[in-house]
Amino acid sequence: MKRIAVFSSGSGSNFEAIAKYFEEKANIKVALLVCDQPQAYVIKRAERFGIPTHVVSPKDFSSKQAYEEDVLNQCASYKVDFIVLAGYMRLIGSTLLRPYSGKIMNIHPSLLPAFPGKDAIGQALADRVKVSGVTIHFVDEGMDTGPIIAQQAVNVEPEDNHESLGAKIQQVEHALYPKIVEQCVQQEVFLEGGQVQWQR
Ligand code: GRF
Repeated sequence: MKRIAVFSSGSGSNFEAIAKYFEEKANIKVALLVCDQPQAYVIKRAERFGIPTHVVSPKDFSSKQAYEEDVLNQCASYKVDFIVLAGYMRLIGSTLLRPYSGKIMNIHPSLLPAFPGKDAIGQALADRVKVSGVTIHFVDEGMDTGPIIAQQAVNVEPEDNHESLGAKIQQVEHALYPKIVEQCVQQEVFLEGGQVQWQR
């Protein structure tokens, strides 16, 4: 049995898609939600699934390192093998990256390296691109810079606005992310020498 922690700061629709997907799987379990926003809706979703939640505010700690040590201790006590970022609005520092090297992944609502950082959907609309999409990548110290595992394109129509493009992108995210998480946790895809490798 492999155990994952999902980190989220917000609504948690990806958390829910992942929780649902692994509910029926015997070999992978969502063991923990880590949330840095006490008011976030994702906490309610975790309650409904009976998934333990660690709500923790970085401002209650003297440094980023102290905050991440607390999160790391929680991950250790829930025997977390893999960390899945899903709308977690913080850069991961070395305190977490070192022990979970190659074992932290993230999802971003654009075809990286286009439109990293905040409001990728707004950035895509402002640039009037015809195609945007979803990227899933391993996490490094940078902002949305780690090695890319999977991408899926989404067409941007002239009539699309933030809401409609966001909905199309989220639909793709919810279908794609759980499957890619599963493949990573099962080591069908992994990081070797900074490169993404697929088991053949
Ligand atoms: C997703 O669009 C994800 O790509 C980005 O943050 C959003 C989180 O949405 N990193 P939700 O909280 O999972 O609904």
